[in-house]
Amino acid sequence: MRPKFIAGNWKMNTTRVEAAQLASAVASRVAEHDRLTVAVCPPFPYLEAVGNAIEGSKVALGAQNLYSEPSGAYTGEVSGPMLVDLGCRFCIVGHSERRHILGETDAIIHRKIKAALAVGLIPIVCVGELLPERDAGQTMDVVASQLSSAIAGLSEAEAGQLVLAYEPVWAIGTGRNATPEQAEEVHSHIRKILADRYNAILAGKTVIQYGGSVKAANADSLLLQPNVDGALVGGASLQADEFLAIVAAGLRVINR
Ligand code: PGA
Repeated sequence: MRPKFIAGNWKMNTTRVEAAQLASAVASRVAEHDRLTVAVCPPFPYLEAVGNAIEGSKVALGAQNLYSEPSGAYTGEVSGPMLVDLGCRFCIVGHSERRHILGETDAIIHRKIKAALAVGLIPIVCVGELLPERDAGQTMDVVASQLSSAIAGLSEAEAGQLVLAYEPVWAIGTGRNATPEQAEEVHSHIRKILADRYNAILAGKTVIQYGGSVKAANADSLLLQPNVDGALVGGASLQADEFLAIVAAGLRVINR
C-alpha cells in the first residue's frame, strides 16, 4: 500500500519567528510512522530557521520552488544544491501560482523537475485545470498535457522519484474543494497515464496528493479515496492545530 503524504505549503506567509513557532508546534506532535510522511514548505528565507526547528523530528523540509540551473548569474534565483544544503528533501515544482501568476511554462517546469532530480530533491509536481477548463470538459486533457510535459524524457528511475499533486486551480484558496469523487476521477486518470507511459508497478507506487482547500473537515473524505495518497495543504497548514488534524486524518485512513 502506498504511504500517505501530507505537506504544508506555507506560500509567502509567516515571519521568521512565526515560521519557527509553527514548525516547532508541528514537529513536536508528529510521531514516527512508516506509512505517513509529513513535510512543511516554508518561504526560502525561513528554510534554515524551520530546518533547525524540525531537526530530529519526523517532519521533513521542503521548498516551494527552485531554479533550473545549479549556480551562476541568475539574480534572485535559488538553486537545487542550495536547497539540499539547507536540508530540503522535497521541492514543490509547477504550483499553479507559479504557472499562472509568475508565468512558468510547461517547459520551464520540466527543466526544474530535472534540476531537482539531479540533486536528489524529490519534486512535488503540481498539475491542475482552471475553472473555465473544467467547465469546458477539458480537465483530463489539461492534466494529461501538463503531466506528459513534466515527465517527457524522464527515465523510469527518474519518474519513480516524483510525487504528484492534483490541484484544481478553482479550488486553491477559495474554500471550495474538489469533491472526493472529482479528485478520485482525476487521480485515477493520472495513475493510468503513468501506467501507460511507464508501467503498472511505477504507477501503483507513485504518491499523488490532492490540493485545494483541504482542511480538517474534508480531509478524511478526500484521503479515503483509493487514489488520493495525501494532501498538499495551503491555508490550513498555517495553523498547527488545523494542519495536525489533517495529519491525524491521514493516520485514521491508514489505520482503517
Ligand atoms: P489551499 O492551497 O489549501 O490554500 O487551497 C493549496 C495549494 O495551493 O497548495
